[in-house]
Amino acid sequence: MADFLLHVNGREFHVRGFADESLLFALRNRLNLTGTKYGCGEGQCGACTVLLNGKATHSCLTSLSSAVGAQITTIEGLERHEVLTPVQEAFLEEGAYQCGYCTPGMILSATALLRELPHPTDEQIVEHMNGNVCRCGTYPRIIAAIHRAAAAAGKGASL
Ligand code: FES
Ligand code: FES
Repeated sequence: MADFLLHVNGREFHVRGFADESLLFALRNRLNLTGTKYGCGEGQCGACTVLLNGKATHSCLTSLSSAVGAQITTIEGLERHEVLTPVQEAFLEEGAYQCGYCTPGMILSATALLRELPHPTDEQIVEHMNGNVCRCGTYPRIIAAIHRAAAAAGKGASL
């Protein structure tokens, strides 16, 4: 075991763990940030998505040691001063979830998309969100939520 310095949600954390354990494990089990979900553990479902330097990343395939030095954002770090982001608001308003298990990863992926592409088409949304699986099949509402968030961001709401 060794000590690793992680930057998560704007704060520094000294994490004691193994270099090759997954960032997902470290976030959930060492930092108690359980909003990031374990689905498949092999890069197929997107439940474990976090932002790594702003890029949507599967934390199940990212080692703890490789995350050192990166700015990591989990679902717990999106809201600011208890104000939800436009993507979070839009998922609520569109009811873009059923069980909610995929939702943190969906919201982080959608946030990364809109920061890069402020007004994506349906096709661009589907292509970008391809790595995020919703077993409840709420895809149409997720797409509607992303369009709603894009409109809100276009009016000045901060992503
Ligand atoms: S748990 Fe990481 S992609 Fe499924
Ligand atoms: S809301 Fe259940 S998996 Fe997406």
